[in-house]
Amino acid sequence: MSSIIDQVSKRKTLAIISHPDAGKTTLTEKLLLFGGAIREAGMVKGKKNSKFATSDWMEIEKQRGISVTSSVMEFDYNDYRINILDTPGHEDFSEDTYRTLTAADSAVMLIDGAKGVEAQTKKLFEVCSQRGIPIFTMINKMDRETRDPFDLLEELEEILGMRSYPMNWPIGSGSDFQGIYDRKHQHVEIYDASNPNKVKIYPVSDIEGADLTELLGEAAHQRLVEEVSLLDVAGDPYDEEKILNGDLTPTFFGSAISNFGVQSFLEHFLFMAPAPVGRVSSEGYVDPSNKDFSGFIFKIQANMNPAHRDRIAFLRICSGKFERGMSVKHPRMKKSIKLSQPQQFLAQERNIIQEAYAGDIIGLFDPGIFQIGDTLCGGKEFTYSEMPLFSPEHFSRVSIKNALKKKHFLKGLQQLTEEGTVQFFESTSGLDEMILGVVGELQFEVFEYRMQHEYGVDMTLQRLPYQLARWIEGDSYKPALFQASNAKPVKDKQGRHVMLFENEYSLRWAQERYPDLKFHSQSNFS
Ligand code: G4P
Repeated sequence: MSSIIDQVSKRKTLAIISHPDAGKTTLTEKLLLFGGAIREAGMVKGKKNSKFATSDWMEIEKQRGISVTSSVMEFDYNDYRINILDTPGHEDFSEDTYRTLTAADSAVMLIDGAKGVEAQTKKLFEVCSQRGIPIFTMINKMDRETRDPFDLLEELEEILGMRSYPMNWPIGSGSDFQGIYDRKHQHVEIYDASNPNKVKIYPVSDIEGADLTELLGEAAHQRLVEEVSLLDVAGDPYDEEKILNGDLTPTFFGSAISNFGVQSFLEHFLFMAPAPVGRVSSEGYVDPSNKDFSGFIFKIQANMNPAHRDRIAFLRICSGKFERGMSVKHPRMKKSIKLSQPQQFLAQERNIIQEAYAGDIIGLFDPGIFQIGDTLCGGKEFTYSEMPLFSPEHFSRVSIKNALKKKHFLKGLQQLTEEGTVQFFESTSGLDEMILGVVGELQFEVFEYRMQHEYGVDMTLQRLPYQLARWIEGDSYKPALFQASNAKPVKDKQGRHVMLFENEYSLRWAQERYPDLKFHSQSNFS
């Protein structure tokens, strides 16, 4: 039996971050196909396939055809165990998407070559960047007309502040797309539009050699030589440390739909991406190879199986080995619990697992004992750092239609804030004003629907004009400072001071007016 260290070193846990339609589902599918985890394309793609929209309470989701279930996918490739965390992106974009990133050790940033860096990618990038995890960039859809590759790299720097190191370089795009030049392996991979799955590889001993002119044609060859020498001279050098710190992004070009460049991306990724990294806890740094099991819950999903109306808590294992049926400590609840029905996920199928290691994600049946951010430990008791709250983008004032239902409302609110569906804020004005915040607008509908159907509470949600929440740091802060401004002083569920702003402009105004105060986009800034 292999040791915990061996098992941990084989694991890579990643999240794919992208804007809707960049090709995340397509890329995920191709990766799973390589690992033999699925047999045909179309198995992951829930969003346009009603067969997979299984949750019953989420009638809204069914109507809109949104998938909720493919939360984690794992597969094996070349002796590695790869865990892909799904980051819901379309209308189901929510705080869950951000929280999922806290469970990943690296991110793959997928960009549509014709569109460049888009809004959602930027938001997800910022969360990854704050965590300092390595980010691997894949520029997709090279089989279509794309923007100039240098422009795309410049955009990474201008919009995201991220320097890049192209691992390969495209030879043309769209109808002129001929393939890629792999800078590390020094070979050309030729793309054949009529048979894109069949990649032909030509070793390159001299990039200026006549054999390449013959292969690519004079104009394309000359352009490749010029562009690659420009990268060599003026581009950033390859720097492993910067890559692992998230300061330099290795960049790849390819076409997910044609499965072109995907395998070579995967192999480079596996070589460069980190194995599971340790986490900071109340007892200091916990190494993944520590023999005692530990982990934290980053996501709770209600009623994944309509037959059981259960909740599943997703736990990222941070250290040690998990064994089915083991007893662990639940420090927040101050009790021991037995983990008897752990589940592992592959797309829609759930499998009962026997063992898992640091880096893996397991799903735990939750009879209502877990909250997002909970730590579970097999050995000595400790807790991992608190799971941050992320700034919502939509806010509503909430009132209950029937005051007699207040108790039910509070119970539902408790449950749904624990699951992370909504964030709750209270006005500091002395008025009994309750405000809900969500990252994705759909969450308001989910909240209303579940309150009505599970707790029998009808409410009125009145939209407010705010778009940003900032947690405030600074001793000189008083809510009264902001009385005359458009911003709204509130407190979060833990009683921390938060300011709601209408836009970036009013946030900047506050930052300039009160330089002693710091305005954080996440709750755990200390
Ligand atoms: P998402 O999960 O990021 O939202 O993207 P998804 O994979 O669903 O891809 C969005 C669209 O882009 C799909 O087309 C998909 O086929 C296409 N696509 C993905 N990768 C590539 C690529 O490398 N090249 C080209 N040319 N297209 C790509 P669709 O028409 O919206 O959906 P479908 O009918 O093909 O499923």
